[in-house]
Amino acid sequence: MTVLALETSCDETSCAVVRDGVLRANVVSSQVRVHEAYGGVVPELATREHLKNLPWICREALRQAGIGPEALSAVAATQGPGLPNALLVGLKVAQGLAFVLGRPFVGIHHHEAHLYSPWITGEPPRADFEAFEPNVALIVSGGHTLLVQVEAELRHGVLGSTVDDAAGECFDKTAKLIGLPYPGGPAMDALAAAGDPGRFDFPRPMLAEAHDDFSFSGLKTSVRYFLRDHPEILRDRRGVADLCASVQAAIVDVLVRKTVRAARRLGVGCITASGGVTCNRSLRRRLAEACGEQGLRLRLAEPALCTDNAGMVAVLAERKLARDGASSSLDDEMRPGWELGDQTGSWDKNTRGTPRGSGK
Ligand code: KG4
Ligand code: ZN
Repeated sequence: MTVLALETSCDETSCAVVRDGVLRANVVSSQVRVHEAYGGVVPELATREHLKNLPWICREALRQAGIGPEALSAVAATQGPGLPNALLVGLKVAQGLAFVLGRPFVGIHHHEAHLYSPWITGEPPRADFEAFEPNVALIVSGGHTLLVQVEAELRHGVLGSTVDDAAGECFDKTAKLIGLPYPGGPAMDALAAAGDPGRFDFPRPMLAEAHDDFSFSGLKTSVRYFLRDHPEILRDRRGVADLCASVQAAIVDVLVRKTVRAARRLGVGCITASGGVTCNRSLRRRLAEACGEQGLRLRLAEPALCTDNAGMVAVLAERKLARDGASSSLDDEMRPGWELGDQTGSWDKNTRGTPRGSGK
């Protein structure tokens, strides 16, 4: 089976081609430079960039895959959640292509696609579903922070999510306070490497609470007050490096400890992570250390597959088609607020996990 997928939910325009589990192409065009001047993603600009870039990105993906459109068995696209007009571009182009080719269309949930990116490995990248095992999945990016129990392939339930800012948003907003360029996460990661993570003590929000939700806006506020009271910290390189390392340590600490705790409570032997923040070197290292100590297996998405890409959408779409042949309607609309719902059929938060919101 050969599936072409599009991903346009936020600020990456991407087209991928998967054939029998192997990614033949995964072309990603990031719009970071376009949004940089505004310090965040501007939805109208994102939409225009998707419209401008999709034609050449699709042509390039097909060229890399060495096929023409007639060789496709199906077409897929991210249907939600995401920026409404940005989603619309990829979804309607994919549905139009499926209509013209007379092939099935598959609408994919963006977060569900993230759940499978840690299982794509090697060169050429291949979906290693033979190795799949039940896991607790951490999805951390600029737009989302989710903890999900994946009971089996295509069966999962959400354990927790952020009640305010996403982890990447916290990196970006605190980096902005420190005066670093957008997006702040990679810049903070680089500076933190030379800093002392123990020099400043920032709060670890919701770490003490038993549920699996996260909160990051209070951490951002405490950095703001800290800088108001200690502006001199920003005057020397050592201070900036220590501050970045200390803020990063607070974010990473919460993510690692809550993820490992959920896996242990649920008796799950494997942890996975994906989303842009999974590129963070400290998070990767700390997750590896914690999993090593607890005897848990760890699968981290490869850095190139952590951030938004159509490869993970293509892999999931092909798997769904192969497993149950289910396709979506060409009339399906985008779903900007689509929640990663219960797809287990038997999910009971009260018995599987600590009920969300119980400690709030
Ligand atoms: O997956 P992604 O491209 O999706 C969104 O657009 O949300 O993730 C982007 C986010 C940004 O917040 C960025 O600062 C963060 O991922 N990020 C990082 C690192 N690389 C990217 N955060 C911390 N350390 C990094 N190395
Ligand atoms: Zn994403």
